[in-house]
Amino acid sequence: MAIKGSIIKISGPTVIAKEMVGARMYDVVRVGKEGLLGEIIRLDGQTVFVQVYEDTSGLYVGEPVESTGNPLTVELGPGLLTGVFDGILRPLEAVRKQTGDFIARGVIVQAIDRDKKWAFTPTAKANDRVMPGDELGWVQEFGFKHKIAVPPNAAGGEIADIRQGEFTVTETICRLKDGTELQMMHHWPVRQPRPVKERLEPREPFITGQRIIDVLFPVAMGGTAAIPGPFGAGKTVMQQTLAKWGDADVIIYVGCGERGNEMTEVLEEFPELIDPRTGRPLMERTMIIANTSNMPVAAREASVYTGITLAEYWRDQGLKVAVMADSTSRWAEAMREISSRLEEMPAEEGYPPYLSSRLAAFYERSGRVVCIGRPERNGSITVVGAVSPPGGDFSEPVTQSTLRVVGTFWALDDRLASRRHFPSINWLRSYSLYIELFQPWYRENMPADFQELRERASTLLQREAELQEIVQLVGPDALQDDQRLIIEAGKMLREDFLQQSAYSDVDSDCPLMKSYGILKAIIRFYDEASAALKRGMLLDEILNLKQIEEIARMKETPKDQFETYIQDWFKRLPEAFGVKPAEPAVAGGEE
Ligand SMILES: Nc1ncnc2c1ncn2[C@@H]1O[C@H](COP(=O)(O)OP(=O)(O)O)[C@@H](O)[C@H]1O
Ligand SMILES: [Mg+2]
Repeated sequence: MAIKGSIIKISGPTVIAKEMVGARMYDVVRVGKEGLLGEIIRLDGQTVFVQVYEDTSGLYVGEPVESTGNPLTVELGPGLLTGVFDGILRPLEAVRKQTGDFIARGVIVQAIDRDKKWAFTPTAKANDRVMPGDELGWVQEFGFKHKIAVPPNAAGGEIADIRQGEFTVTETICRLKDGTELQMMHHWPVRQPRPVKERLEPREPFITGQRIIDVLFPVAMGGTAAIPGPFGAGKTVMQQTLAKWGDADVIIYVGCGERGNEMTEVLEEFPELIDPRTGRPLMERTMIIANTSNMPVAAREASVYTGITLAEYWRDQGLKVAVMADSTSRWAEAMREISSRLEEMPAEEGYPPYLSSRLAAFYERSGRVVCIGRPERNGSITVVGAVSPPGGDFSEPVTQSTLRVVGTFWALDDRLASRRHFPSINWLRSYSLYIELFQPWYRENMPADFQELRERASTLLQREAELQEIVQLVGPDALQDDQRLIIEAGKMLREDFLQQSAYSDVDSDCPLMKSYGILKAIIRFYDEASAALKRGMLLDEILNLKQIEEIARMKETPKDQFETYIQDWFKRLPEAFGVKPAEPAVAGGEE
C-alpha cells in the first residue's frame, strides 16, 4: 500500500507532512503535485520532516507527499566517467537538454545512459558459484577494464547462464540458478558505506608531485587531508593540481556550494586538462558533482554522500581513488540551514550538534582496503576536503571538527598568497600524522638520508621564523653571521623548494626524487657554507656564490635533465668553498 500523506508546513528547503503511516527514516518521497524529490530526515509518529532536493517555491499546504519506500540511491555501472552531475547524480547536461537551463522540478533523469551498448566479456562461467564482489566479466571504458561484479547487496549463488556480447546497462548479462538476474548497473544507498573485506593501515604516501606536501606534510594513500584557507588562498587550485598530478586512477570532484562562477571555472577548466599519464583528457578518469550555492541546499547536503559512494564503487574495482570536496564548509552550512528549519537545538555557531559526527563519518569512508570478492584486490580512497572558514579563522567549528578527524592538515595562509607564495601552505601551522607510519616505506623507496633532510628542513624553517621575528624587532644588524646564514637558508627553502607554481610547465609536478635532490642541495649548501664561515670565509663572499642562483634554477630544470644537472652541481660544490673535491659526489640518484 502506498504511503501517502499531505503537507502541513513548508519552510525553505524542508517540508513537514502528516499521516505518513509506515514511513521510514531516509526514505525518498515525492512532494507536491509536481512530485519534487525529497528525503525523510526526521520522523515523529506519522509526521515526517522532509528535505527537498528541489526548489520548493510554489508548493502549498495540503498537497500530497508520497513515499517511494526506498532510500536515496545512485546508479553505479559503466557510463559514469566524464560525467558532470548534480548533488543527487542527475547528469547536468541531460537535465539541461530536457528542461532548459535550470533543472525542472520533479524531473527524473537517469545517471547512466540507457541506450548505450557495452561489449561485455564474461570471465565467470555457468555453474560457477559467485558471491558479492566476485567478478562476472568486464567492459572496456576508456582506459579501464571496468569490472562487472556481483553487487554487494545481491545474494550470490550458482550461475545458470552468463552471456557475451553487446548489452545496455539494464539488460541481463547473468542469471543465477535461483532466478536472480544480474545487470551491469546496480543501485546503492548513498548514506550507507559499501562493505569491504578488510581495512588496511595507511602505509605509503599518496604522491602528489607537490614538494611541500610530499616532503613535509604527506597524506597517506587512503588517508585524509584538509585544506583550510580563506577565500583566494588557493584551495581550488590545489585540489585541481592534486587531481592532475596525484597518484590516483580515478578522481571524484565534489563542487559543493561554492558560488556559481567558481564552479563554472572548474567546469570549464577540467575538460581542458590533459592527463599527464596518458595524454588523453583527464575527464576520462574523472566524475564531477556540481552543486553551486544557487542550487537547493538539500541536494548539497546529499552531494558529499553521492560523491563518496561513487568513490567506493571505483575503489571496489581495485583502484586508487581521490575525492576532492570543495568546500566542506558549504556542506556544513547546508546542514545548518536544514537543521534550523527543523527547529533543532543548535550547538556552536548555529551548527547542529551532529556536525562533527557527520564530518567524521564522511572522512571515515576513506581508506585502503581489501575489497570484497574475487579476484582478490586492494583499493583506496584518499579524501581531500577544502574548508573555508569565515575570515580565515581556524577556531570556528567546521575547521575544528575537521582537524580532529583528518590525518594531514595543510593550513593555507592568505598572507603567503598575497605575497604570491604558492602553494600558500603555512609550514609552521601544517602537520601530517602519517610520517611515523611511512618510515618503512621511506626506508625502502628513498635514499637513507631522506628523513634526516626533511627534519633538517623543518628545523631550519623554524629557526628562520624565530630569527625573522628578531629582525622585525631590532633590525638585521642584531644578527651574527651564522644567524644571517640561517635566514639565507630559510629563504632558499621557501623560494626554491616550497614555492611551486601550479601553472609552470616544468614545475607543476615534481617527482619525489627531484624534490629530494633540491632539498639535499639546499641543506648541503648550508652545511658547506657554515663550515666555510667557521674557517673564516666572509658571508658576503658566500652570498655571492653562483651556486645560490643555480639552486634557484633547479625546480625549472626538466625532469629528464635534473639528474645530470644535480650530479654535476654536487661535484662542483666543494670547489666553490675553496675545498678540493674528496669523496665522489652523492646526488639525487643514490638508492
Ligand atoms: N599553486 C598555485 N600556483 C600559482 N598560483 C596559484 C596557486 N594557488 C592559487 N593561485 C592563485 O590564487 C588564485 C586563487 O586561488 P583559488 O584556488 O581560487 O582560491 P580559493 O579556492 O581558496 O578561494 C588563483 O586564481 C591563482 O591565481
Ligand atoms: Mg575555491
